[in-house]
Parts: sequence; C-alpha cells; structure tokens
Amino acid sequence: MNYTRNAWYVAAWSCDLSAEPFAITILNEPIVLYRTFKGVAALEDRCVHRLAPLSRGRCEGENLRCLYHGVLFDAKGAVIEIPGQDMIPPNAKVRAYPAINKHDWILVWMGDPAKADESLIPQAVGLSDPNWLLGYGQMDYAAEARLICDNLCDFSHLSYVHANSFGATEDWAKSRPNVIPLERGVRFERWMISQPRMTGRGEGKADVWQWYEFMVPGVLLMSSVTLPEGSAAKCNYKAPAADRALEGEGITFTSQAVTPLTDKTARYFFSWGPRKDQGDEKLRDVLMGVADMAFTEDRLMIEAQQRVIDHDPKRTIMPTSADKGVTLFNRLVEKMAKEDTA
Ligand code: FES
Repeated sequence: MNYTRNAWYVAAWSCDLSAEPFAITILNEPIVLYRTFKGVAALEDRCVHRLAPLSRGRCEGENLRCLYHGVLFDAKGAVIEIPGQDMIPPNAKVRAYPAINKHDWILVWMGDPAKADESLIPQAVGLSDPNWLLGYGQMDYAAEARLICDNLCDFSHLSYVHANSFGATEDWAKSRPNVIPLERGVRFERWMISQPRMTGRGEGKADVWQWYEFMVPGVLLMSSVTLPEGSAAKCNYKAPAADRALEGEGITFTSQAVTPLTDKTARYFFSWGPRKDQGDEKLRDVLMGVADMAFTEDRLMIEAQQRVIDHDPKRTIMPTSADKGVTLFNRLVEKMAKEDTA
C-alpha cells in the first residue's frame, strides 16, 4: 500500500471506545486500543509470550493484561509483570503507537513517534461541539482505501451515484470546482447555482456555496451553506466573505475519514449535521438518513470497482479533467510516503 505513515489515522469514534480493549487493524498492523487514566493507549495487538491478541485481554488502570497466561503490559508496551516469574527480559515489549482523543475521534500515529505532532490533526468539528448537532456513523469497505479517497476528491460522481439520495443534478459532473493545493491536503470550493433544495431543507431552488478540504491521510472536512437564488452572482461567483460564519440557511458540517485497514479493506467514519442555530435533532436525523443511503451507494460502486480492478490489475486508468484534485492528493501522499522512508 502506498500511504504515508507520518499521519494521524482515525481508529474509532471516542464514544465507541468502552472500558474494554478495542481491536483494529491499520495499514495491515493489528492494534489494540484501551483507555488509560490520562487518555488512550495503542499497542501492537500481539502478546510477546505466545502471540495471543492483547485485545482479548483486560484493562487494569494504565495497564493491559493478556488473558492467556497473564503477562501485564504498561501503556508504553513494556512487560511489567510475568505471573510466577521475577525476571523480566529487558526487551520484553510490544510496539506502542502515539494515540490521542481529539474532535471525538481516537487517532493513532502510524509513523515515527518523534514526529507525532498534535497540530497535524485535521481541524474537524467534534461530535460534542456545543455549536453543532452532529450525527455519526461508520462503514466497512471491501475495497482499498485509496479508491474511497479518490471518490472524495472528485464530486462529479454525485450526479450519477447520488441522483436519488442527494438529489444531485448533472451540474455536479458538468462544472468543475476550484482546486487549491494545501500543505497537507487539497481544498475544493464551488458555487452550485439554482439547485433543488436537499431533503429536509425546504422547497424551491437555491444557490449553494460549498467547500471542503481533503487532508492527509484521508480526512474530508466540509461545510456548505444554502443561499437564495442569485447569491452566487451577487458574490461575483467568488467565495463569500467568511465560509464558516456565513449568514444563510442550511449551514452544515460533515467529516469523513478513510482509514486503510488492510490492502483491500477500509473503514469509513462519518459525521453530519446542522449548526445548532440552523437546525434541530430532527434535521440531523434526516441528514444522517440521507448519508446512510448515499454512502451505501458509494460503497456498492467502489466495491464493484475493486472487483473489476482485481480481475485484471494491469489495466490502467484514463484520468479526465474532473480528476485534478485526485491527482494532486495522490501525488502529495506519494511524496510524503517517500519522505517517510528517506
Ligand atoms: Fe500472552 Fe501467554 S500469550 S501471556
């Protein structure tokens, strides 16, 4: 797999991590997560003794006990107790990964621990942000994470994959967004003119200003605002003054994080909902219903695409002008993956 390791990968929604150890595989590496007094620990999910999964173990405060023969590990992965044996071999440890709870995600840094920098976590709105009403979910894919990232960097598919769920018109495929390279991602922004209002947002047509950033390793942060028809022209088709603080209706936020589990499987974490002054729980639930439908549409297409690719992996792709963001993002990840090993 060609992914950068020096990045924070979403491993779970924080609210889904209970007092029990939690297993996930990221970049083909089995990892166990567990809560500690200070936060969260992430260890290689493989006991040093007879290689049993630590995710079948038991949390004991800061530590994690393997429940096969009782070896106890601290949050840094070091063995600190072997039942019935005083001597602990100095190299008795498993790999520990930097892990953090931020924006209501549990994130794991897969690269050099010395480079784990909290400021590199994409700036999402968390589920518990008092100004927003976000629903959340996740979905597993039988497909490579890269294909999902490609999908999220090219919204021309909305017109065909999401004509039903989002009510997307062919304008999405026929127009192109502004695509702006960022240091650790790509920004997309566009006006969609005279669009039918999305389910749950009233009747009639409207102009929609929409922007999103797609950040390494595969995290989409998007907001949109629905404005009366003619607003785009009034703004001279440029960005409104302050995207996040816009006056308008239907201001929503969504995060969508793609985590590669193995070469051909991925987990997709998503949230969506209105700003609190712009909607209620009912609207949030309507949006989440639309999201479930739309993201299933994506999954069915991408898993089918994966099967076709696997049938003849030597076939090459033919990019179109809609792929500008896809190409920029993939080049960035390639460059960062090379730097990981330099
Ligand atoms: Fe973990 Fe034996 S396999 S203690």
